[in-house]
Amino acid sequence: MSAEPDHYGVVGHPVAHSWSPFIHGMFAKETGQSLTYRLYDVPPLEFRERIVGFFAGGGRGLNVTLPHKLAAAEMSDELTPRAARAGAVNTLAARADGRLLGDNTDGAGLVRDLCDNLGVVITRRRILMIGAGGAARGVIAPLLTLEPSELVIANRTAERAQTLAEDFEDLGTVMGTGFTQVDPNAFDLVINATSASLSGDVPEIPAGVVAAETVCYDMAYGKSDTAFIRWARSLGCTRAMQGWGMLVEQAAESFRVWRGMRPPTGPVLAALKERATAAQA
Ligand code: ATR
Repeated sequence: MSAEPDHYGVVGHPVAHSWSPFIHGMFAKETGQSLTYRLYDVPPLEFRERIVGFFAGGGRGLNVTLPHKLAAAEMSDELTPRAARAGAVNTLAARADGRLLGDNTDGAGLVRDLCDNLGVVITRRRILMIGAGGAARGVIAPLLTLEPSELVIANRTAERAQTLAEDFEDLGTVMGTGFTQVDPNAFDLVINATSASLSGDVPEIPAGVVAAETVCYDMAYGKSDTAFIRWARSLGCTRAMQGWGMLVEQAAESFRVWRGMRPPTGPVLAALKERATAAQA
């Protein structure tokens, strides 16, 4: 007799484009776990009620995406330290005692992709983070834990970068600045955490920050090269990557939080890139 599968999903608005059902479906197959994973398109005003309903109905866990990551943090009964630091939740899990745990796996996903999949060294390297919104905030602590020589946060609105840097200065050498004040010498790693790619824009950062050996990483991803990737290549960068690996690794970390086991990510990443490229053709 087989038990009922456990129910999971991703909640966002909009969410129809999400790759998460594909990713978690593959994880479940790879690990032999019995679960369902669905899309929930929920407008902000209905968020709390729908989440309460999902878990009251026996749901075990949800991924949370835009625009609900802050609301998910607010309604969690308990936050993991990394979610508290990020001030945002991308993973909700029903605990055995019925309380709702809020976690954030974005930073772990980025660091795992950079360090384990791509072999990028963070320790004692100079890192430039472009952007100071929620996406940036979610990944700063795990980056600083790896002790870069400095982390510069550059944002169109300089004050926002300065405030963000102050929030994390207990963890390492981090400073916030506007685009034009960025030291125009090459960084070892440049991470795009702005939403500018979505509108095809490239932040107006001094071109000198990118050299041939600089690693450029766009936390955004698309079926074709993002504007940031094209910008990096135009400056001679030979290692410019989109955030597909981060997407898969943050999902794997959510899966581990829910199921207590880490799924292999290599096959999923390969399949995802293949599907994305095929969809483009
Ligand atoms: P997210 O949760 O995706 O980070 P957000 O909190 O709205 O979303 O932050 C968006 C980030 O992208 C911000 O750093 C924003 O810069 P501002 O703080 O100056 O608004 C940045 N951003 C968005 N569009 C941009 C553009 N066209 N050029 C440069 N930066 C942009």
